[in-house]
Amino acid sequence: DDSRLTDKHGRAITDLRVSVTDRCNYKCVYCRTGNDGAQYAELPIADYLRIVRIFVDLGIEKVRLTGGEPLLRKGLPDLIRELAKLKTVDGESLDLALTTNGHLLADMAQTLKDAGLTRVTVSMDAVDPDIFARITRVPGSFDRVRAGIRAAQRVGLGPVKVNCVLLRGFNEDQIAPFARFARDEDVIVRFIEFMPLEEDRLWTPESVIPVRELLNRLSTFRPVVPLRANTLSETAQRYTFDDGIGEIGIIAPVSQAFCGHCSRIRLTSDGKIRTCLFSQFDHDLYGRMLRGATDDEVATFIRSTVERKEARHHIGEPDFLKPSRSMVHIGG
Ligand code: GTP
Ligand code: 5AD
Repeated sequence: DDSRLTDKHGRAITDLRVSVTDRCNYKCVYCRTGNDGAQYAELPIADYLRIVRIFVDLGIEKVRLTGGEPLLRKGLPDLIRELAKLKTVDGESLDLALTTNGHLLADMAQTLKDAGLTRVTVSMDAVDPDIFARITRVPGSFDRVRAGIRAAQRVGLGPVKVNCVLLRGFNEDQIAPFARFARDEDVIVRFIEFMPLEEDRLWTPESVIPVRELLNRLSTFRPVVPLRANTLSETAQRYTFDDGIGEIGIIAPVSQAFCGHCSRIRLTSDGKIRTCLFSQFDHDLYGRMLRGATDDEVATFIRSTVERKEARHHIGEPDFLKPSRSMVHIGG
């Protein structure tokens, strides 16, 4: 069906990630290192809605709201309420997910559920409260995030996924405790390799904890058993333990890049399209809207931009260039 978004490498683009703010209430050591004071604009909620509606008419099936910290964005429940009414080109409801640090989640979970959110992913890089506070640089953050996770489960926003970025010297000793956490709290814990997307130049190949080491540490806790992939474009390789209790995901964008099956496209908080986390360019969608582009013209621009999506990232290669924005300013 040629009305749906594809790129010139033949990949179908079905997932849209929308950043609704690049503000964040955490200052995680590997993200906000402080050397990039940039803050980008935020669009009126109605404009995000219009953009997503046009994307959905082009075949997007999954929308993830990100930031910065999206729960800081005023009007977020209103946006979710409107997005939940959209139908995919096949007439289905959207898969409407949110990535949050969880700090404000306990208070907002019910509102988000009532608005029509499908599920949440919580970023959490330690289960030891002291290590957690050392990473987020916000005291008392662990208890709040755990309360947020539990509230999300209580109101039916589960299964909750927990994303843990592994950082040499900060949290490699948290791997086994996280495995226990996954089983105790009934969450899917996904370990993510650190990518060169920080505000500073912290990243080195040595700061990445390789999958081999991760699997070794996990199986010291309990033998792991691979699970079948849900979909081809899934970022995580899934595992359980020998007793079938708990789910662990491994997201290895550095050592086992998944670009070949990438189905994602991003909208920054200020309305630019990013065709890859590691794009060197923004594509100014919102500027066209401000100059009066019609829905058809916006759709045409989206189509031609998506078509030029990069084949892959070049992390770790001599020609690698760090993107002009760090992850907090692109969207998670
Ligand atoms: P599901 O819809 O639950 O499968 O979520 P997801 O895996 O698409 O999204 P999530 O936000 O949980 O992403 C998990 C992590 O994968 C992110 O935090 C990133 O570290 C990484 N990731 C997501 N998208 C990309 C991408 O396009 N490129 C690369 N290199 N990494 C990505
Ligand atoms: N490498 C890998 N993951 C990262 N995240 C933020 N920065 C990086 C990075 N440099 C994760 C966050 C959150 C999601 C939005 O992306 O921890 O889980």
